[in-house]
Amino acid sequence: MYNGHIMFFHEIAEGQPDPIFGLNEAFQADVRPNKLNLIIGIYKDDQLRSHLMGSVMQAKNQIASQDVMADYLPIDGLSDLHEQLGMIVFGETRWKESHGRVYTAQSVGGTGALQVGGQFLCQEVSKSIAISTPTWPTHRSIFERAGMRVETYPYYSRDKHGIDFDGLCSSLKRMTEKTVVLLHPVCHNPTGCDPSTEQWKELSRIIREKRLLPFFDFAYQGLGEGLEKDRQAIDIFMNDGHEMLIAYSCAKNFSLYCQRVGVLFVVDENAAVKLRVGSQIKKIIRSLYSNPPAHGARIVAALLQDAALKEKWKKELDAMRHRISVIRESLIRRLGVNFEFLRHHKGMFSFIDLDKSQVQQLINQFAIYLIDNGRISLTGLNSENIDYVASSITAVCKKA
Ligand SMILES: Cc1ncc(COP(=O)(O)O)c(C=O)c1O
Repeated sequence: MYNGHIMFFHEIAEGQPDPIFGLNEAFQADVRPNKLNLIIGIYKDDQLRSHLMGSVMQAKNQIASQDVMADYLPIDGLSDLHEQLGMIVFGETRWKESHGRVYTAQSVGGTGALQVGGQFLCQEVSKSIAISTPTWPTHRSIFERAGMRVETYPYYSRDKHGIDFDGLCSSLKRMTEKTVVLLHPVCHNPTGCDPSTEQWKELSRIIREKRLLPFFDFAYQGLGEGLEKDRQAIDIFMNDGHEMLIAYSCAKNFSLYCQRVGVLFVVDENAAVKLRVGSQIKKIIRSLYSNPPAHGARIVAALLQDAALKEKWKKELDAMRHRISVIRESLIRRLGVNFEFLRHHKGMFSFIDLDKSQVQQLINQFAIYLIDNGRISLTGLNSENIDYVASSITAVCKKA
């Protein structure tokens, strides 16, 4: 009671801080001058700055006048974005052949695509989804909020410093028909370990045989081995004739983190099914946020429609990937033979196999912040801090 009123909120328990954004707040509050941020998956240059990519900035300037119009986008967003990203995700030829049966909705980032996809699946197809152990921590909460039962499948083996492929396959084989399997097509977050081509083929075969439904979370295209190579899992599953979902994020590869640009693709059997799937997804979006924001979507569409800007964007992506691989090599050189396994990792992250207490030591004694599963965001390293980081990691490993 307060001033005679019944109070509604006073018994609400405090939620746990987000493992990534929450730690980032702790980093901001740390007053030590030598503190280093290896937490968040934001690409930084050698000066540790995170800028809008040059090609994206140019596209942003090009579309400035379109933003003056006061209007809504359709419920499922900008059709030019669907078309342009469709060609990037599936390849031009396949997109031309298949887009008639792929329902596409612009989303509020990759997260929004996962949430809308989860709600759609829960409502229409299956209430069970399996995610990898480990995975991006938000996956569990996204799908639980969507109403799904979240199971896990083994993915990473600390002993092997790589994928536990046998464990993964046996787990898939035990799953109930119609279970949705959440997969990272490239740059697995947090481990950086991706299946080989042969392993993807085997996974596709098992998933089809066991009548499971693949849902790809595609957040890092271009940051693994390049735009084309990074879609090999999608190619393999398309060749094998799967129905599937793809949640796509433009946060990292277009540096549009805060503009919240993403897309949900649902690959269907044919155009008639696509129509019905789309009608249900539009109802979900309408009640969630009505329709998506336009600014970032217009930027991506304009960039990809302009051949010169698209070339420039590809070169910038190549340069980002190159910087990541140079840093990874420099770190391996400094850490020594016990860390050779890092060489097989792809993308912005590497999993350095530290336990929680070693991570705490890095934070407390050395002011090096990383999430407690031992994932480091490599672009937080540069030529000035890499020796310090390597010697600190070596120090906490020796104490163990
Ligand atoms: C695996 C994975 N999926 C999805 C996302 C979300 O992307 P967005 O920022 O576009 O929502 C991220 C971002 O960190 C991610 O790492």
